[in-house]
Amino acid sequence: MNHSISPAQESIPPEEPQAIEEAVVLLTEMVRRLTAKSGRARRDAHAKSHGCVRGRFIIDGELEEPFRRGVFHPGTEYPCWIRYSNGNELIRRDSTGDGRGMAIKLCGVPGRKLMDDEKKTQDFLLINHPNFFFETAAEFVAFQRVNSMGRPHLFLFPTLNPKTWRLRELRVIAAITSKRITNPFALQYWSMTPYLYGEGMAAKFSVRPSHSFREFSGNRASPDFLREVMKGQLAQGEVELEFLVQRQTDPASMPIEDPIQEWLPSQSPFVKVATIYIPTQDFISVAQDKFSENLSFSPWHGLFEHRPLGGINRVRKVVYEVISKLRHELNNEERFEPDGMETFTCGD
Ligand code: HEM
Repeated sequence: MNHSISPAQESIPPEEPQAIEEAVVLLTEMVRRLTAKSGRARRDAHAKSHGCVRGRFIIDGELEEPFRRGVFHPGTEYPCWIRYSNGNELIRRDSTGDGRGMAIKLCGVPGRKLMDDEKKTQDFLLINHPNFFFETAAEFVAFQRVNSMGRPHLFLFPTLNPKTWRLRELRVIAAITSKRITNPFALQYWSMTPYLYGEGMAAKFSVRPSHSFREFSGNRASPDFLREVMKGQLAQGEVELEFLVQRQTDPASMPIEDPIQEWLPSQSPFVKVATIYIPTQDFISVAQDKFSENLSFSPWHGLFEHRPLGGINRVRKVVYEVISKLRHELNNEERFEPDGMETFTCGD
């Protein structure tokens, strides 16, 4: 155990506030540029949704004491909405290499909230890989600068000198984009970045299918096959997933400020704390898609007990709110938070 850093301790680099300001400017420009092209303002990341499905999130009744924090009260059940997505800002064929998102919104959550724009929700944003590809807010901005010039490769290879190449980032990006995806419900997802888990404890989250999962397969040649697979899977029966927590047990080898470094399960195993049930349903309707597009997910929608930690989460605090407000404004849509009781009729 390293005694110079405490568990869950953050450390803000001096250049971070300026990086956050620049991130807002660059992402706002990008959303406006993409909106001018497509006529519709979308999320600056995870623009393509495969579907937003209704679920039940039930905390394990037998939860051990150190895991009883925040929303994790033994036996509590929350209705939830889950939006599955591709990571890119563009709408592309599902067979294109990409990170895959799973955004969970628990509804009817009581308690003191981190942000003013919601009162009763707790969001968990997850991607199908354990670690992220930017270490800090400033590194994200370095990428966004070259990306906005249409030259994203310059982030990984700024010069011909191999000493300047960002090989850690390259390895993560290559691992994420080379995965062959068949079914969004069959994947394991991770929060990548850490969160507070009650006072003085940090944790990362993950979701994986329960053992009982029988995978429905689809036609990869179709551009939207992941949506088709989800539809087929949920027509076949209920999907059951496990929600897991990994606690930070060593602040040095499981850092708060560097999400490129994976927290190894060999050092601190993931522990199941809840079950997610996604019942048989038809989620395909114009009204439900519109609802999904107008939802706002944010790692900062949640309880003080689960405050996002680290520089990447600090830049996300500002960016998610700005981009959500901007796209709603450009589309002339209201921002709202659901209560989990919404209903849609298939074919609306
Ligand atoms: C520099 C870091 C990051 C930035 C700037 C960023 C930015 C964004 C933005 C602006 C959105 C759209 C928000 C909206 O308009 O409602 C978004 C969505 C999303 N982000 Fe990030 N993100 C970052 C890191 C991450 C990380 C580490 C994860 C890890 C799980 C993640 C997962 C997601 C997911 C799953 C969505 C889709 C949410 C939905 O379905 O609506 N992001 N991100």
